[in-house]
Amino acid sequence: MKVIGITSGKGGVGKTTVAVNLAVELAKSGKKVVLLDGDLGLSNAQILLNARVQYSYGHVLTGEKTLEDIMVESEFGVTLVPGSSGSSVLSRLSRLQLLGLIHALSSLNDYDFLVVDTAAGISDNVTVLFGACDLKLLLIQNEPSSIADAYATVKVLQQEFNLSDILLTPVQVSSQQEASNIHERINRVTEQFLDLSLRFSTGIRSDRAALESARVGVPAVINSPEGKLAQDITRLAQIVISQEPGEPADSGLKISIGNASN
Ligand SMILES: Nc1ncnc2c1ncn2[C@@H]1O[C@H](COP(=O)(O)OP(=O)(O)OP(=O)(O)O)[C@@H](O)[C@H]1O
Ligand SMILES: [Mg+2]
Repeated sequence: MKVIGITSGKGGVGKTTVAVNLAVELAKSGKKVVLLDGDLGLSNAQILLNARVQYSYGHVLTGEKTLEDIMVESEFGVTLVPGSSGSSVLSRLSRLQLLGLIHALSSLNDYDFLVVDTAAGISDNVTVLFGACDLKLLLIQNEPSSIADAYATVKVLQQEFNLSDILLTPVQVSSQQEASNIHERINRVTEQFLDLSLRFSTGIRSDRAALESARVGVPAVINSPEGKLAQDITRLAQIVISQEPGEPADSGLKISIGNASN
């Protein structure tokens, strides 16, 4: 199983939109996909997937339910592991509990991809989840605060987790040219100050279909398959599929745990 993490420094840039649509697009191409709503305090992947959710990871922690009990099949071919809206207990999970969650998920048989939608920011929860992923997509919007936050995120990821394999994904851009300009700009800064080159995945263009699909509860890749968002997500899915499978999720976890205790 390949584990794909999606994060951003700043909130509200489009993580859940990308995570949900990428998961559905991968499922459309015949892959078996689990989506983890890693925004464990305030989750909304379930809304975009129009999924009815009864339990969350909190019930697994208390022993009331097993992981399999709480997993929900959405109507779009993606299996959802729900977070829990507004539960502060969940957003304060310990590192070990989070790693346990990823570990349990990446040990599930029969799935090709685990897509992890994280919360924004560089809290422990986010860096632990993101650090455990094989492919790490860092979303960034073309505005000064988002670029500054993305740089701060990269710096923490590098210094705390020794992560260097970050795929920059500019979002809500007007063109692919704008996306590659953003990549060049931030890459210049990370190369100069962190001695770190960031890889580029693809730009995700602004598309009204994002809002519309959230309103009707049908992901854009299904609701508006010819639109800009769907086209760019299709390209992202191809990139994700063709990426060399990194270390198996298991050994990735061991590396993260080792670093976390330093
Ligand atoms: N490519 C896009 N084009 C236009 N609007 C978009 C795009 N991606 C996301 N949006 C809109 O931006 C808003 C935030 O999107 P989303 O919830 O996916 O962001 P997020 O990063 O997950 O936010 P949070 O940090 O709160 O979890 C939503 O209204 C969504 O419809
Ligand atoms: Mg979100």
